[in-house]
Amino acid sequence: MVEVFKNYIGGKWIDACSGETFESRNPAHTDEVIGVFPRSREADVVAAIDAAHAAFRPWSRTPAPARAEIILKVGLLLERYKEDLAALETCEMGKVLAEGRGDVQEAIDMAKFIAGEGRRLVGETVPAELRSKFAMMVRQPIGVVGLITPWNFPIAVPSWKLLPAILCGNTVVFKPAEDTPACAARFVQIFEEAGLPPGVLNLVTGYGPEAGAPIVEDERVRMLSFTGSSAVGREIAARAGRSLKKVMLEMGGKNPMIVMHDANLELALEGALWGAFGTTGQRCTATSRIIVHRDVADKFTTQLVNRAKKLRVGFGLDADVDLGPVINEQQLKTIDEYVNVGKQEGAQLLLGGEILTGGKYDLGYYYRPTIFSDVHFRMRIAQEEIFGPVVAIMPASSYEDAVTIANSTQYGLSSSIYTQDVNLAFQAIQDLEAGITYVNAPTIGAEIQLPFGGVKATGNGHREAGSSAIKEFTEIKAIYIDYSGKLQRAQIDVE
Ligand code: UN1
Repeated sequence: MVEVFKNYIGGKWIDACSGETFESRNPAHTDEVIGVFPRSREADVVAAIDAAHAAFRPWSRTPAPARAEIILKVGLLLERYKEDLAALETCEMGKVLAEGRGDVQEAIDMAKFIAGEGRRLVGETVPAELRSKFAMMVRQPIGVVGLITPWNFPIAVPSWKLLPAILCGNTVVFKPAEDTPACAARFVQIFEEAGLPPGVLNLVTGYGPEAGAPIVEDERVRMLSFTGSSAVGREIAARAGRSLKKVMLEMGGKNPMIVMHDANLELALEGALWGAFGTTGQRCTATSRIIVHRDVADKFTTQLVNRAKKLRVGFGLDADVDLGPVINEQQLKTIDEYVNVGKQEGAQLLLGGEILTGGKYDLGYYYRPTIFSDVHFRMRIAQEEIFGPVVAIMPASSYEDAVTIANSTQYGLSSSIYTQDVNLAFQAIQDLEAGITYVNAPTIGAEIQLPFGGVKATGNGHREAGSSAIKEFTEIKAIYIDYSGKLQRAQIDVE
């Protein structure tokens, strides 16, 4: 029996107004239906915004430590259901089980971290210029916020948004990617089980143009947080600008790893394999360009190909699988098209470059780990985000050359350098145009206690998690309390 899921609006699980549905399928076994979901449209979104709007006043008046108790319970429930959620991620999104566990763990970490903020939500007190006057700043909720999330981290990325948004006293309309609605629905069930009052969190499943766009358009939604493609992000920002919404965007990456001549090559090889092919390359932080110093390029490249050849591709619940499938047929085609573009541009295809077929592979969307060498920075495969198991090796003749190549894309999310030279490492931290820089580690693996996000076309100046989470999901109020009992004019009656 296929499970039938519903939207969650005003504390009730309900069908789409139209009664329409869509399916979510296992990308490793496309004949397996994970669930059937409401195909929401404007009427459903409006109902969700109505509920969020109605719930806002009581929720914003609930003391932050009390809100935090619920966030902590969410974290503890995520811990309890970690195995089930991880397996669901593997079945719905395709990542291998160990990575599914990691994804849930990231949300657990976030819940515990953010719950502590319920007893902080730190403001400022400053001296007033006048006698018997008190000046301070507090953080207040923004209102109804719309959260639109991707499929590649179906629990972790929503947790970066949902947990601080709710902790800060906002109410939420949550539209998850249409590829992973079951993970989203399970996550929302956990909030319900934790005792979140009706209307504070509302879930609408469906497609972007139908269920996402009405969130962007509605005047009552005061903030949007979106993680996904640059094309969609730009469109959201442009449209949301008309109603002066705050818009937080996390978009693409083309993350470089620099391998210098003095690098510990063994470490760099391990890092490159994990950074490029972990999560089948479907992370916005994935290592998609490896910029190698010419002195070690041949050795590094040969060994990387040898090791990548041994990676095992398959269903992520099976033992000994390193890479799962890619998310869907469209993405499989896009990856294959990019590989053809790379060949036409004159890059050397050293490994992979093909859709896997035969036996179990015929049931899913599998792509062979792919390595190009001799990639020039102007090539499209060096510029555009592919979001699959494809990595470009680019030779560099010096550190300066490597940094120039690293910075030669529109994106600026993550970056990394392998070197044993501490001076060079610090120089790279200064020079790399990215929101995140790793030294002697690949470009993936951010921890939630530091801000996450990027520069240039990766974002629009916002950061998630870490100390940024609370700042992003609150408005600031400046407060002046005059206890002198008389009119005191600022800037004028100063002694
Ligand atoms: C993403 O790819 O959208 O830093 C998020 C990392 C993970 C999060 C990735 N912690 O790779």
